[in-house]
Amino acid sequence: MAFNPSKFIETQAALARQKIGSKPALLALSGGVDSSVAALIVHQAVGAQLHCVFVDTGLMREREAEQIKAAFAPLGLRLEIVNASERFFSALKGAEEPEQKRKIIGEQFIRVFEEYAKGHHIKVLVQGTIAPDWIESGGAGRDTIKSHHNVGGLPEQMGLELFEPLRDCYKHEVRILARELGLPPLISERQPFPGPGLGVRIVGEVTREKAEIVRKCCVVVEEEIEKAAAAGEIERPWQYFAALLPTKTVGVRGDERSYHYTVVVRAVRSLDGMTANFSHLPPKLLEKISSRITNSVREVGRVVYDITNKPPATVELE
Ligand code: XMP
Repeated sequence: MAFNPSKFIETQAALARQKIGSKPALLALSGGVDSSVAALIVHQAVGAQLHCVFVDTGLMREREAEQIKAAFAPLGLRLEIVNASERFFSALKGAEEPEQKRKIIGEQFIRVFEEYAKGHHIKVLVQGTIAPDWIESGGAGRDTIKSHHNVGGLPEQMGLELFEPLRDCYKHEVRILARELGLPPLISERQPFPGPGLGVRIVGEVTREKAEIVRKCCVVVEEEIEKAAAAGEIERPWQYFAALLPTKTVGVRGDERSYHYTVVVRAVRSLDGMTANFSHLPPKLLEKISSRITNSVREVGRVVYDITNKPPATVELE
């Protein structure tokens, strides 16, 4: 049966009304299309009873908090921005193993929301979980590929009820809903961004300095790819970003030896993130990205392009 967005919104809004009633509810708004759509559906149903909280973990994209504020303020949502970067970086200190890092990040999110929920007598937690999140986290008897984090753990610990309106949706359906709800293209057409943010784009230990480096490299990759797509030179990939390896390699800068980080550029075509093929970006575009990164981010001395599909790789590096 074809996906009917207005019917879906109506059904989920009615469910939200039933489940939330007159109780205060909390939603972790990341600004990604999933949590944004979940927020709008529930907001339609219960208005200001829905508290949306954006956590600035220090692992978000460039100017993310500002953009979220600008996109959501006109829609009348109740939105609070919590700056929690200090606690995320200190909790991540020394952690190198990907699953351990994901658990730490998930745990810190829980702590932040727990504090907020206690302070505001929250009874229901709304999440923008979509089907691939729980399937790859070992749902329905499957093996755990990686622990996709949402705010798992919070409902049980705090006796909160959980409401996940998009649980059975795939990404392309969520985008259809976003357009139906009138979300601006900055949100509806936004490429996916993982819950643990840049934390899974920094291979190995996460530090504030590394987050800054990878954030700047992601800006270059996004800008150059979007420019090429707008000019009709390429089809816009499904997802495109930079990741930082812990490996430093030798190079030359002017007449001097340099020893700097390696950055991986990743761009993939996909429908739902479950499988993906690397994009065949033109060499000229890759060269532009590489020279912009090495010219503008002085901590990076080498740029490589990831030519692995999923499987056997995953989209993110951790
Ligand atoms: P992977 O790396 O698992 O990524 O092949 C598939 C898609 O999921 C995104 N991703 C996440 N999304 N929480 C999320 O909400 C997560 O923990 C998470 N990890 C990966 C990834 O960016 C890609 O779009």
